[in-house]
Amino acid sequence: MTVRIGAVPSPIHTVSRRLDQWLANLGYCSRREARDWIDAGRLTVGGKPADDPGAKAQAVAVRVDGEPLDHPEGLLLLLHKPLGLVCSHDEREGANVYGLLPERWRQRNPVVTSVGRLDKDTSGLLLLTDQTALVHRLTSPKHKVPKRYVATVDRELSEGLIPLFASGALVLEGEKDPCLPAELRMLNSTTAELVLTEGRYHQVRRMFASQGYDVRTLHRSHFGDLDLGELAPGRWRELPLDAFGNLG
Ligand code: URA
Repeated sequence: MTVRIGAVPSPIHTVSRRLDQWLANLGYCSRREARDWIDAGRLTVGGKPADDPGAKAQAVAVRVDGEPLDHPEGLLLLLHKPLGLVCSHDEREGANVYGLLPERWRQRNPVVTSVGRLDKDTSGLLLLTDQTALVHRLTSPKHKVPKRYVATVDRELSEGLIPLFASGALVLEGEKDPCLPAELRMLNSTTAELVLTEGRYHQVRRMFASQGYDVRTLHRSHFGDLDLGELAPGRWRELPLDAFGNLG
């Protein structure tokens, strides 16, 4: 299934911003520090040394230490999330996936964030982006992007789970709306593939728990049409910003 979602922003090559804003938004330094970077001769605009942090320029004209700006148009990354990391930015929740990224990317504004979340104990395909509108589109229940998981449970799976999960009638503990129909396929007696088109809190674990199963391992193999390919845990690859349609 090809997921094509919405239209959006103005192409980055037409956008002019203050130099201190480019530097701060792209994670190089704070706006205050931009003055020092300019005084140190690190920036050029159109090949000429910059002298005013407030001067406006298009990204394509700016060089820092002789290099083009780092992804001025935005970032969309497909990460193989390893076990043991959280998707929250709150450091009190423990080591997070953003620690896998280069420091400059971690300083960007808008911040690089995950598209939905995977639990600390879940591995697999996680999208990361600084495109806030894209996060909203891809996580909106309206778009029903299919997410494919492989779950291993603590005891033999019953065939009866297939029609139950597909029924659209399964109500999770503490909720009133039933889960949307989900496709379950047995891989062996304790392992199954589950395709969800929504993303409720701990949904896979709670769906199995509702029938008395404990999920022992959980891995997301696909998000829409995307898979991990040969990507090792902890590694990412860049995706074009329009990987999900005309998003500029
Ligand atoms: N469902 C879960 O229970 N956990 C995840 O990480 C993702 C989906």
